[in-house]
Amino acid sequence: MNILELRDLVVCHEGKTILRVDSVRFEQGKIYGIIGPSGAGKSTLLRVINLLERPAQGSMHVFGTDVDLAALTHAKGLPIQRQMGFVAQKPAMFHASVFDNVAMGLRYRGVDRAAIRPRVLAALKLVDLEHAAGQRADTLSGGEAQRIALARALVYEPPLLLLDEPTASLDPHNIAIFERVIHTIHQTRRTTILIVTHNLAQARRLTHACLFIHQGRIVECGETAAVFSGAACRELQDFISGRMIC
Ligand SMILES: Nc1ncnc2c1ncn2[C@@H]1O[C@H](COP(=O)(O)OP(=O)(O)OP(=O)(O)O)[C@@H](O)[C@H]1O
Ligand SMILES: [Mg+2]
Repeated sequence: MNILELRDLVVCHEGKTILRVDSVRFEQGKIYGIIGPSGAGKSTLLRVINLLERPAQGSMHVFGTDVDLAALTHAKGLPIQRQMGFVAQKPAMFHASVFDNVAMGLRYRGVDRAAIRPRVLAALKLVDLEHAAGQRADTLSGGEAQRIALARALVYEPPLLLLDEPTASLDPHNIAIFERVIHTIHQTRRTTILIVTHNLAQARRLTHACLFIHQGRIVECGETAAVFSGAACRELQDFISGRMIC
């Protein structure tokens, strides 16, 4: 079953088309890698899905609802957005404790006060940072902050998780924790996960399918093993083998 489908998507900035997607589908419960060179449009794709960016045209079928992306109002988009978790490359922490940072998403969603504490502590445990609950979030290390950003996105158990280069600036220890959590929530919750990564080894380790974006187009899309072993287009072959492409 598809959890997400995009059709006829066109994103423009300053009169230039930076992303054009005729059609792409994401099946529920799968992990997708989004790969491609810098400036290809990977973050733009995630931002459009997360309703952070309004395209010039395009429709999205998500969680069983049809959405005209170009005409969507904030009020109509909010309930959809609340079913998605989003982790950016550089997480912004609120000036509050780690606990409050993670609790915020539950408070926004009107979760009962008594239910908040155990859920926040469970999310912190998932990322191995239970002990940091009382620490101010702006004193966390970069790797810890990124794990808290993940806990913040997971605490309300979204069926769709969008990750934009979440481990790009992390050391191997934090990358391993991050990947273990992704694996765990995929196993236990069947969360659908889209992860943008420049780390091709990570894409191979974590994902079931990969999309290769180049110059604003999805050039190849398929099962990860097939994408890496039998890339059809020259750009993807070059990208995988580490040759420069632009
Ligand atoms: N608000 C904007 N105004 C003008 N150009 C933009 C805007 N947002 C994105 N772009 C351009 O669109 C293109 C795609 O940007 P995007 O951030 O999606 O790339 P990316 O694939 O995520 O790259 P990277 O791997 O470096 O993060 C880039 O050329 C970028 O400069
Ligand atoms: Mg990006």
